[in-house]
Amino acid sequence: MKAGNAEVVGGTTCEELARRVARRLNRKFVKVHRKKFPDGESYVRLLRKPSSKRAIVFQTLYPQNDSTVELTFILDLLEEFDVEQVWLVIPYFAYARQHKRYRKWECVSAKSLARLIESFENVEKVFLLDLHDESILNFFRRCKTIHLSARRLLAEYFSRKKLNDPFVLIPDQERKELAISVSSELGCDYSFLVKYRSRVTGEITTRVWKDFDVNGKEVLILDDVISTGKTMLNAIKIVKEGGAREIYCAATHYIPSKAHEMLMKAGAKEVIATNSIPSEISKLDLAPLFAEALSGELSKRR
Ligand code: R5P
Repeated sequence: MKAGNAEVVGGTTCEELARRVARRLNRKFVKVHRKKFPDGESYVRLLRKPSSKRAIVFQTLYPQNDSTVELTFILDLLEEFDVEQVWLVIPYFAYARQHKRYRKWECVSAKSLARLIESFENVEKVFLLDLHDESILNFFRRCKTIHLSARRLLAEYFSRKKLNDPFVLIPDQERKELAISVSSELGCDYSFLVKYRSRVTGEITTRVWKDFDVNGKEVLILDDVISTGKTMLNAIKIVKEGGAREIYCAATHYIPSKAHEMLMKAGAKEVIATNSIPSEISKLDLAPLFAEALSGELSKRR
């Protein structure tokens, strides 16, 4: 049987994004229906059987547990329907912060998730976005991984703002590449803070690594993810004390919460993120980025 053109299967956690990518790639779309039983269990149904032997599945892993269960059910259904090749797009990869063992006998949950995905033998490629740590890619032993970044989207967004005297700050020393790429696009300086998170209490402390001058500047505080918002909050306090004129907070991923309001109250002029997890602050659309990456991989098939 002919494999046919890959169809896009849109998991419920990022259906809109999946639809937009399907339109850009001119692919058929398969909608997923999910509901909850009264006891909290998930029910999943595809609204039609894919007509191709290839599928591109979108599922962002938030809310973490329900979305992971939904993904498992979708992949199982596709296997049952004899879909031979699955490319999986995971805009937000959950459990990524536990990418190593910090304390004895802990579960390395990012690895467990990778193993769960790879247990479906038809999953061939996995597209990921701004992972908390690149080492997670090594947990995929069989699947090809394509690790994308929203750095360009963030840089373009702030470049359109035509800021007078911008400065890029990353609240976590591990995100240097993000700082370098956005600051070079804006032609400005960057610096970073040093962060420590207690593995026991979760409390975050932040300190300045090397003095920097943000007096009168428009400061962009950039990170991979805003979760509780505490990391950004500490950074806001530091740049406010330094005399920043305007403060913008931006991240690839935003875990929907009250963090956005808290950061605005603390002095941020704007808090933005991509639609890796749809929320009120999803200002950057990932559809062009994923469509470009997918069509690049699709063209290799020809
Ligand atoms: C941590 O290493 C990440 O890069 C983020 O800085 C962190 O996960 C943000 O978390 P929260 O918003 O809870 O401070």
